[in-house]
Amino acid sequence: MRDLRISVTDRCNFRCPYCMPREMFGPDFAFLPHAQLLTNEEFARVAAAFARAGVTKLRITGGEPLIREDLPELLERFRKIPGIRDLSLTTNGWFLAERASALVAAGLRRINVSVDALSDAIFRKMNGRGFPVARVLEGIEAARTAGLSVKINMVVQRGVNESEVLPMARHFRERGITLRFIEYMDVGNANGWQREHVVPAREILRLISTEYPLEPLDPNYRGEVATRYRYVGTDTEIGVISSISEPFCRDCHRARLSADGKIFTCLFASSGTDVKTPLRDGISDTELDTFIRDLWSGRRDRYSEERAENAEAAAQHRKVEMSYIGG
Ligand code: GTP
Ligand code: 5AD
Ligand code: SF4
Repeated sequence: MRDLRISVTDRCNFRCPYCMPREMFGPDFAFLPHAQLLTNEEFARVAAAFARAGVTKLRITGGEPLIREDLPELLERFRKIPGIRDLSLTTNGWFLAERASALVAAGLRRINVSVDALSDAIFRKMNGRGFPVARVLEGIEAARTAGLSVKINMVVQRGVNESEVLPMARHFRERGITLRFIEYMDVGNANGWQREHVVPAREILRLISTEYPLEPLDPNYRGEVATRYRYVGTDTEIGVISSISEPFCRDCHRARLSADGKIFTCLFASSGTDVKTPLRDGISDTELDTFIRDLWSGRRDRYSEERAENAEAAAQHRKVEMSYIGG
């Protein structure tokens, strides 16, 4: 176990149809009530226990983490945990322009921003709320000015934004920003995922190579989610995250913690293990360490490989929603 992804809220201001389709996440949707969320102290206590179990990398996710006003305070707690060498967060970028400097002051050094299109029309459609892309691009600039290292995530969907692959590559290459293309995944049950909507990573790489020659790079570490390439003759990289066409469960070292205190050992799990109740019942740190170690050593998850082996069985599998577990 090396990474812990912590979802700090299940709410989001966007309604990307591949993640929080409006029809399902409408005004009546029952988001987690405040009392069910872990307190900041509890988040930090669980994260510290994970760090004692070997986690060196924390990623803050949501929903949209920046909708939490108290995010800087939470980041400061995470930053101080012994053993944590990498603290980052994944955001839709909407609130970055106004919040980037507070995040840096809290100790954040890098972020991943989701941008699915540069075309305003496509972007507006893909966030389900008609929000313009310009504000997110301004947020990215503000983040870089504030000193954050930025990577971009683009989920590529057949017939929706595949036409944006090259424009996105050109735009971020010019600015020396790493862009990662993500194969659209069957996370959750809300998005009506179909294999036909996936654009395989190799197709994306082929397309980009027609304009810019690429050279493969060695992984930074075993089990890295993105496979990295460099534009020949530059220092600028791209990545592909090919969970559908080339599952990488074998090397997975990621645990996940939901905002209401459940630990998930896989992004595609049906259920998690409640840690909030033991915390509120007064579990000691030693007992918490044993709780986490037992959970991890009992882990058998390999969903993406199983999907590749038997698509029909995988389609029957109930999974938590992306907006709840944070990817
Ligand atoms: P870096 O630390 O910057 O490499 O971040 P990351 O790629 O681990 O995190 P990010 O939140 O940017 O996620 C990028 C994509 O990878 C998202 O679509 C995630 O859902 C996906 N992803 C992350 N971990 C896993 C995993 O264990 N399995 C699968 N299938 N997808 C994952
Ligand atoms: N497939 C692939 N990536 C997804 N994301 C959200 N839903 C999906 C999906 N179904 C991405 C977001 C964000 C990251 C955390 O996961 O765009 O960049
Ligand atoms: Fe919000 Fe991110 Fe999900 Fe889009 S992908 S709805 S920005 S949590």
